[in-house]
Amino acid sequence: MSTDALRAQYEAYPYPARDPADERTRLVTGSPGHLDEVNHYVFAGRLDSARPLEVLVAGGGTGDGTIMIAQQMADAGIPGRVTYLDLSDAAMAIARKRAEVRGLTAIDFRRGSLLELEGLGPFDYIDCCGVLHHLDDPAAGLRSLAGALKPGGGMGIMVYAPYGRTGVYPVQEALRPLTDGLPPAERVALARRLLQHLPPTNWLRHNPFVADHRAADANLYDLLLHSCDRPYTVGELAALAASAGLAISALVDPVRYDPASWVKDPRLLKRLDGLDRLERAAWAERVSGSLAKHIAYLVPAGREGAAVAVADGPDAVPVLRDLDGPAFARGLRPGATLEVELPGGPPLAVALPRLAGPMLARIDGRTTLGALHAALAEAAGPLPWDTFKAQFDQLFAALNGSGKMYLRR
Ligand SMILES: C[S@@+](CC[C@H](N)C(=O)[O-])C[C@H]1O[C@@H](n2cnc3c(N)ncnc32)[C@H](O)[C@@H]1O
Repeated sequence: MSTDALRAQYEAYPYPARDPADERTRLVTGSPGHLDEVNHYVFAGRLDSARPLEVLVAGGGTGDGTIMIAQQMADAGIPGRVTYLDLSDAAMAIARKRAEVRGLTAIDFRRGSLLELEGLGPFDYIDCCGVLHHLDDPAAGLRSLAGALKPGGGMGIMVYAPYGRTGVYPVQEALRPLTDGLPPAERVALARRLLQHLPPTNWLRHNPFVADHRAADANLYDLLLHSCDRPYTVGELAALAASAGLAISALVDPVRYDPASWVKDPRLLKRLDGLDRLERAAWAERVSGSLAKHIAYLVPAGREGAAVAVADGPDAVPVLRDLDGPAFARGLRPGATLEVELPGGPPLAVALPRLAGPMLARIDGRTTLGALHAALAEAAGPLPWDTFKAQFDQLFAALNGSGKMYLRR
């Protein structure tokens, strides 16, 4: 697909459908790009909030990532700038209006291609959500972005995944002879018509993991009428990253990529012991069948271990995301479990440690593990560091696994 054709699609259907007036009542947050998550998986929790942060949102669409990051930087008092880049004037106009409604000024709006970044950057963080899989040459796109990274920087990307999109690609192909050469609105009308008339045997009708095309024409266009759309398995994504000199520091949320989330039989799980983390993730993807996209953090190859924050001492600071620690702690009974949602799966009950309640009551994004340990010991009597740390590690595994806890230094 040529860049012109791609641009024409997103001029007709800016994606995702957004109304700037909604900025008065809610902030859309998500992954990749949530700053606490980026800090954890790209900067090992060491993002210096006094230093200007240079961010590029490549293929910014109607602005979800740009607005979230710029708002989080403003709220945290982080200086710097978010550069928004997209081919579509229509998408950029919506993103710009959203920023105006919020009074966000540290955004540089640019129309252009991520394949031509001369004069832009270098960037600490590049966000590229839902874009690479639509390019004629995704590897060239990723190479272009990698070339604009600062040495200590990294990237957050989202690409489609094949198994959770079962049925999508045959319907895309079935629509092609029906819609080729027609204007976008007629193509959408024909696609809706075909959806109504699909036989009961069609796999898309049986796939519960893709549903947002029912909500808006832009979503339907993106799902079924895109003539350039290729999904990536975990292994293919790792190879794509490697082709640009990058490596996967994390796939999020981690619980989705843990074989034990999907298969309970200990004998089968034991057989996976020798696999490395990406092989295990690939196995979980194959077995789950429900992953329709991958959200990954990428850093220059060789830095993937060092990029991720670890709770290796008393100066690490746990940070909660979308979870009110004290309120959650009040409702916890001894032996409580955390209910975690898996794509398409039954809720997963994750065991929480005995001290989960007292810990969560005190986690506020500023308190270090050392201070948390001291406070618990003061409240409940002697508590060896190792005992405290083992309990914290269990809590961290449960909450980080489901995208609710990160670390900063
Ligand atoms: C599916 S939308 C995703 C928008 C946004 N990242 C999000 O997740 O909400 C893809 C966007 O990428 C833009 N795009 C596609 N190819 C591009 C390119 N080569 N350079 C810049 N933007 C591009 C499209 O115009 C469109 O707005």
